[in-house]
Amino acid sequence: MSVTLKRARPYLVLFCILLLMLAAIFWFRFWLPGDQLSGAAEEKTGQVQTVSIIRQPDSVDESVRDHVPKAALSAEARLSANGADSGSDNAFDWQIPAWLPPPPVPEDNPMSETKVSLGRHLFHDHRLSRDHSVACVSCHVQSLGFADGKVLSVGVGGSVTERNTMGLANVGYSPVLTWANPHLKSLERQSLIPMFGEEPVEMGLAGQEQLLFDRLQSDPLYREMFAQAFPEREGRIELATVTRALAAFERTLISVGSPYDRYKYGGDESAMNEAALRGEALFYSEKAECYHCHQGFNFTDTLQTANSGFAEVAFYNTGLYNLNDEGAYPPDGMGLYTFTNKASDMGRFRTQSLRNVGVTAPYFHDGSAATLEEVIDHYAAGGRTLQGELAGDGSTNPFKDPLLVGFDTSDTVREDLVAFLHSLTDTEFLANPRFSDPWPEDHPARGVSTLTPGIHDSTTTEVSNP
Ligand code: HEC
Ligand code: HEC
Repeated sequence: MSVTLKRARPYLVLFCILLLMLAAIFWFRFWLPGDQLSGAAEEKTGQVQTVSIIRQPDSVDESVRDHVPKAALSAEARLSANGADSGSDNAFDWQIPAWLPPPPVPEDNPMSETKVSLGRHLFHDHRLSRDHSVACVSCHVQSLGFADGKVLSVGVGGSVTERNTMGLANVGYSPVLTWANPHLKSLERQSLIPMFGEEPVEMGLAGQEQLLFDRLQSDPLYREMFAQAFPEREGRIELATVTRALAAFERTLISVGSPYDRYKYGGDESAMNEAALRGEALFYSEKAECYHCHQGFNFTDTLQTANSGFAEVAFYNTGLYNLNDEGAYPPDGMGLYTFTNKASDMGRFRTQSLRNVGVTAPYFHDGSAATLEEVIDHYAAGGRTLQGELAGDGSTNPFKDPLLVGFDTSDTVREDLVAFLHSLTDTEFLANPRFSDPWPEDHPARGVSTLTPGIHDSTTTEVSNP
C-alpha cells in the first residue's frame, strides 16, 4: 500500500500543480475583469451605468467594427500597424486652474506645444477634405463652442450628418465619444470617422490616404512642423501622426472660465445675477434633478480625468420620443440600442456636457430642440409630446429614466434655469487665440468655399452674457 502511494506521489504532485495553473489562468482570464467592473460600477436610480476600464488606445473593440465605416477601418488598421511610441512630457503647460486635473493623455501620444500647434493647423485646414471644401472647423466653429448652430451638418458633396454636431469644449475629459457609441474611446481614432467615413461622407477622403499625405507633404510648413512634433517617427506624415496631432490639439480645448466658474471656484459673488443663482439652486434641487446626470465640473456623468482611476460612462433615455407607444425612437437615432440591440437601450444617449450650452443650439442628438426654453419644457413635462410623423408622448416611454418625473414651471422657474445655463458660457474660450484659425486669409488651407449650408440654420446662436 505505502509502496503504491510512494510511486504515485510524483504524479499526484504534478496533477496538483496542473490544477493550480488552470485555476490561475481561469482567474486572470475570466474573474478579474468582472470583479473590477462590478467593483467600479455604480447603480443609480435603477439605471445600470456602463463603467469601463480604460483600454489601450490601439485595441479595437470587435463590436465597433459594425459601426465604423469600412474605409475608416482600413485607415485604422494602418494606424495600429504604425505601433506605439514611448515617451512622456510632464512639462506641458495646460494653462488650467489649480483645482482642475488635466485630461488623461494616452501613453503613446504625449503632449507637446509643437504637436498641439500642428493639430491646430490641421483642424483648420480644408485640404483635409477631398475637394478642399470642408475642414474640421467647418462643423466645429470656435465662437459656437465648436458646434455649428445647425440641426444637421453637411459634408463634402452635400452628404448630411445623421446627428447634431457636438461642441468640443472639454472633449479630452470624455472617455467615450459621439452621442451614443460606447466603443469609441480615443480622440486619435475618432478623427478617422470624419476624414474617411462614407456614411455619412464628411470630409470624403475614403481610400484617398496617400493623396492626403502627398498634399500635406507638399507644404513646407507641414514638413517642418511634423519633423518638430514627431522626431521619434522622423517627422513622417502618416495616419498615426496626423491623428495624434489632431487629438493633442483637441485635448487643449478646455473651458472653465465662465461666470459660474468665477463664482463657484473663484469666489466672485458678483459673477452671477439673481436669476442665474436661483437657477443654480433649482438645477441642484430634487425638484429639477438635473445634477444627477449633469454632474461635476463638466456637467456630465461621463467623465475621466488624469487623476481618476476609471472612466465613468452613462447613457439615458430622456423621453424625447415614444413612437407607437412602444418606447421606440426614430430608426436613424435609436442611441445605444444601435450598438447593443438590447431593448432597454432604446433611446439611450450619452449625457451631454452643458459647458457653453448657451451658444451650441440647436439641442439634443438630432437637433430637435431649437432653444433652451424648449429643452426646459421637455424636462418639465417629464418627456415631450409630439404630434405628426413622430407622434407620441415621451413622458410615458417605458425606457425613460425614472429621474425624469417633471416639475412645474410656475414663477420664474424656466427663466431661472435658462439663466443658469447661460452662466456656463465661457466667452474667453470662444475667442481664445490659442484655438483660432492660424492660416493667413488667402492661404490654400482656407479652402475653396467656406459655405457648408446646414439643414434649417438655427437663429438662436448668439452669445449671451448673463
Ligand atoms: C460635416 C460636419 C463635420 C465635420 C467636417 C467634422 N465633424 Fe466632428 N462631429 C460632427 C458630428 C455630426 C458629430 C456627432 C457624431 C455622432 O454622434 O454620430 C461630431 C462629433 C465629433 C467628436 C465627438 C465629440 C464628443 O463630445 O464626443 C469629435 C471629437 C469630433 N467630432 C472631432 C472632429 C474632428 C477632429 C474633425 C476633423 C478631422 C471633425 N470632427 C470634422 C460633425 C463634423
Ligand atoms: C436622467 C439623466 C438626465 C437628467 C436628470 C437631465 N438630463 Fe439633460 N441630458 C441628458 C442626456 C442623456 C442628454 C442627451 C439627450 C439626447 O440628445 O438624446 C441631455 C441633454 C441636455 C441638454 C442638451 C445638450 C445639447 O448639447 O444638446 C440640455 C440643455 C440639458 N440636458 C439640460 C438639462 C437640465 C436643465 C436638466 C434638469 C431640468 C436636465 N438636463 C436633466 C441626461 C439628463
